[in-house]
Amino acid sequence: MRLDKFICKSTELTKTQAVELIVEGRVKVNSDTVTLESTQVHENNDITLDGKELVARPFRYLLMNKPADTICSNIDEVYPSLFNYINEGNNAELHIAGRLDADTTGLVLITDDGRWSYNIITPAKKCEKVYRVGLRKPIIETESVIEQFALGLQLQGEVELTRPAQLDIVAPQEALLTITEGKFHQVKRMFSAIGNKVISLHREKIGEISLDVGVGEWRYLSEDEVKSFIK
Ligand code: URA
Repeated sequence: MRLDKFICKSTELTKTQAVELIVEGRVKVNSDTVTLESTQVHENNDITLDGKELVARPFRYLLMNKPADTICSNIDEVYPSLFNYINEGNNAELHIAGRLDADTTGLVLITDDGRWSYNIITPAKKCEKVYRVGLRKPIIETESVIEQFALGLQLQGEVELTRPAQLDIVAPQEALLTITEGKFHQVKRMFSAIGNKVISLHREKIGEISLDVGVGEWRYLSEDEVKSFIK
């Protein structure tokens, strides 16, 4: 990670304060003074500030049940940020691994470990996300509609088809959809591509993790749950 980020993760300093200290030559990496804040460092490096060794706080991994009318952003906008529900300190270091729209509810994974969240977000890792979708019009279960989702749909404004998705129709106006990518408004646009409209959207599962806390609640992931995304 960058040196300024490491300083923030091992002290209570802001990024601006960390950069100032680095530029002033008060930070050493493996005994060498480093004055460039973007220098890449590793947690195992010996990093000191004014001669005092710094140790980065361990990464955090959380799951949360996102309420409707909250946003997956670190700051409040039209709706409040869902970070208002987490009172653990240093929230600015956290980010969401796969954001949901303001009106979408359900499972979000939250971390300060960018390498870990990459495993969840990048389509190349094929991490499955399962959504329960409420629809305006009944969806007729035919081989053709299931095949359309499996083969890929042409979304408006996109060059490539969507990646293979699994559609399970559980009621005339309700389906479970499993996808491995997260384009902007992806699920809503997929149903729009077949002439329907999503009226409710709830994420139930990511990888092997299912939602098991109440609305607005969160918990830390277990070590096994964290590892389950590292393939
Ligand atoms: N797809 C959407 O359209 N919205 C979400 O919030 C998540 C997936």
